[in-house]
Amino acid sequence: MDIVRVGVIGIGVMGSGHARHMAEVKEVKFTAVADVDPAKVKAAMDQYDVEGFASSTELIASGLCDAVLIATPHFFHPTIAIEAMRAGLHVYAEKPLAVNLSAADEMIRVARETGQLLQIGFNSRATPAVQAAKRIVEEGRLGEIYRTLLIDSRIRNQAYYDSATWRATWAGEGGGVLMNQAPHELDRLVMLTGRPSRVYGQVKTRRHRIEVEDEASAIIEYPNGATGYVFVSVNEAPVGNRLEILGEKGKLVMAERALQLWELPQAVQEWVDSTTQRGNALKGVEVPVEVPAYEGESHADMLANLARAIIHGEPLLCPPEEALGGLELADAMLMSGFTGKPVDIPVDRQAFDAFLAEKQAASQGKPARGA
Ligand SMILES: NC(=O)c1ccc[n+]([C@@H]2O[C@H](COP(=O)([O-])OP(=O)(O)OC[C@H]3O[C@@H](n4cnc5c(N)ncnc54)[C@H](O)[C@@H]3O)[C@@H](O)[C@H]2O)c1
Repeated sequence: MDIVRVGVIGIGVMGSGHARHMAEVKEVKFTAVADVDPAKVKAAMDQYDVEGFASSTELIASGLCDAVLIATPHFFHPTIAIEAMRAGLHVYAEKPLAVNLSAADEMIRVARETGQLLQIGFNSRATPAVQAAKRIVEEGRLGEIYRTLLIDSRIRNQAYYDSATWRATWAGEGGGVLMNQAPHELDRLVMLTGRPSRVYGQVKTRRHRIEVEDEASAIIEYPNGATGYVFVSVNEAPVGNRLEILGEKGKLVMAERALQLWELPQAVQEWVDSTTQRGNALKGVEVPVEVPAYEGESHADMLANLARAIIHGEPLLCPPEEALGGLELADAMLMSGFTGKPVDIPVDRQAFDAFLAEKQAASQGKPARGA
């Protein structure tokens, strides 16, 4: 195979974005689209000269695709991905890979069983800044992790939440900022620092008429005893994000895709144990970090990576086993925040399924305007 035929399932905001960028990816050919909304199917067929289908099942069975790109609301990602992989197709599933960890586990199991490739749409992984941060950690330049900090500050208006019935409801989305906006940053935190072992979460709904959280925070514990602080929100402007990773040998800060790295002349524990200097005498030295300018488009680059993985065996930028880590953290924060109890990672799958089912059973959907 030297070109991968791709069908887009769910041609809303993100699916349309992928469709627009598809022409930039020389390794793929856009062949088909499916959506439960016939008007969206017709518009995409006219605009891109592709075949259209009223359901994912019809598109998967059409024989027109080697891979599907799933950009439906989150709860459909696992079921459609599993159906596609069982039919012999490769999959690009938008983030989050699933809402329930039990469903995510099943996606991973089916990917292994069928041998089909499954890429998860954490597109910032394709950017040079994130790749450079990953290299710094993998080269061991920070040493053992001592402390982390993540702040993900965003803003959404009520009109955004009102733009689709599934948004910000327990039944349609299974969470708020933790399920939709923050997963990119949670994925990056876990990719760079590993999975925490315990989460003390807090959730709030402060500025929107929605039933799920628009702000969440947590103190997280790592297996080595290190502590992390996480704050994510869609209530703040100016927007911005900041990730700090402090280790025994240095400190890495990533803010708005800019990287700063400090290295220590001596590892912290060694300095503590062996020196007699007073006060804050252990100083870090800032060292330059080369981050090439990014000329690409990250969604298109993620798709190109999947296509090259299919054609040449290039490693995936976001295999599902890796995307699972951020979902563990999101689900742990959600369950801990709403129950008021700490949650251990790996999250108890049955306990999370029961927690979410209870929330869904009590769901009122979105309160009416003015309520
Ligand atoms: N990677 C990113 O940066 C990014 C950005 C935005 C959205 N997303 C993800 O993309 C997904 C979609 O988000 P959106 O904002 O585009 O939502 P949207 O509501 O704009 O679009 C979803 C589309 O899916 C269709 N749909 C619903 N159920 C379907 C089904 N069973 N089969 C086929 N089509 C179905 C809807 O009719 C709609 O056209 C979400 O999971 C979201 O998290 C990712």
